[in-house]
Amino acid sequence: MRSVGIVGIGSYVPENIVTNKDFEQFLDTNDEWIISRTGIRQRHIAPKDMPVSELCYQAGLKALEDAQIAPEEVDLVIVATITPDYAFPATACLVADRLGAKNAAGFDLEAGCSGFIYGVVTGSQFVATGMYKTVLVIGGETLSKVLNWQDRSTCILFGDGAGAAVLQPVKDGFGFLSFELGSDGSGGSLLSQPAGGSKYPASLETVEKNLHTLQMEGKEVYKFAVRIMGDVSVKVLENAGLAKEDVDLLIPHQANIRIVDAAVKRLGISPDKMVINLDKYGNMSAASIPVALDETFKAGRIHEGDIIVMVGFGTGLTWGACVLKWTKVGLKV
Ligand code: ACO
Repeated sequence: MRSVGIVGIGSYVPENIVTNKDFEQFLDTNDEWIISRTGIRQRHIAPKDMPVSELCYQAGLKALEDAQIAPEEVDLVIVATITPDYAFPATACLVADRLGAKNAAGFDLEAGCSGFIYGVVTGSQFVATGMYKTVLVIGGETLSKVLNWQDRSTCILFGDGAGAAVLQPVKDGFGFLSFELGSDGSGGSLLSQPAGGSKYPASLETVEKNLHTLQMEGKEVYKFAVRIMGDVSVKVLENAGLAKEDVDLLIPHQANIRIVDAAVKRLGISPDKMVINLDKYGNMSAASIPVALDETFKAGRIHEGDIIVMVGFGTGLTWGACVLKWTKVGLKV
């Protein structure tokens, strides 16, 4: 098995910013409540005519440029999203086409906010076995399109964006050291977009009942998230034969500052090793982790050999974590 790492990264968020104060214009909420309960100050929201494929394309383009890889070299594009352009065709195929990745296979992957972790785990299997050399994994979301903008307990939480990573073989001992994935469908109803699929196809009734929008039992998701983020991070470090003291950076899914704080406490990792950007973007689901990774790298906080833990949880319910020993140098194989 080859070692696999991230040799290029990129991200993109739409220009338009919606602040907490903006919500005060049409909802019974306020800046103080949102900051104290979530840590979120603002989020980027895509215009009506901008689908998720556009965000994914922009992020993917930057990642390929960063890796200095031509689109024709990409063997596979995976887009992790719960807000695809269409039920079908897959967003990954549309993005591959726009990028000019004409030799690439493509498929979408649906694992909610764990989507990017599921994506890099899936993509890296193709590279580790030698089947493919270059896989582009993109986590992208336009949750703004499926929110109920009258529901103050959900619409204030989310934002739009995309982050991308190019996977290639790297030198032995570097790249992904361990993974941990899980799911529990018994919690599926805690966070869902009920209508529009084969169970409740679109009808006048589903539209009237707002069943095409995101529905969430916030408190239950909260409890699950705090427990699972800590547990899965401990497990993935054990799998890699590492201790919490070895961790240089923890990039958690950016859902809520209280969830992240509780998980970090449970894990016993120093808060200065944690990456937080949810104040600027809200919860971007599958895009949160790759956008945070990209920003952290660009800020000069990541160095060769650093041990990075990425951990997420989301609808499904799903969870996932990975340990990455950082190098951006791909192998010529
Ligand atoms: N402004 C003002 N008041 C509000 C708002 C708001 N935006 N939203 C809810 N409230 C009110 C509620 O109505 C409630 O009022 P009541 O006591 O009169 O009934 C009160 O505030 C407290 O509400 P709670 O739900 O108890 O608030 P809580 O402290 O649990 O925070 C929150 C809610 C932020 C949603 C929290 O539960 C949470 O973060 N849950 C996890 C959500 C999450 O991470 N989701 C992403 C999953 S990942 C994925 O796959 C997409």
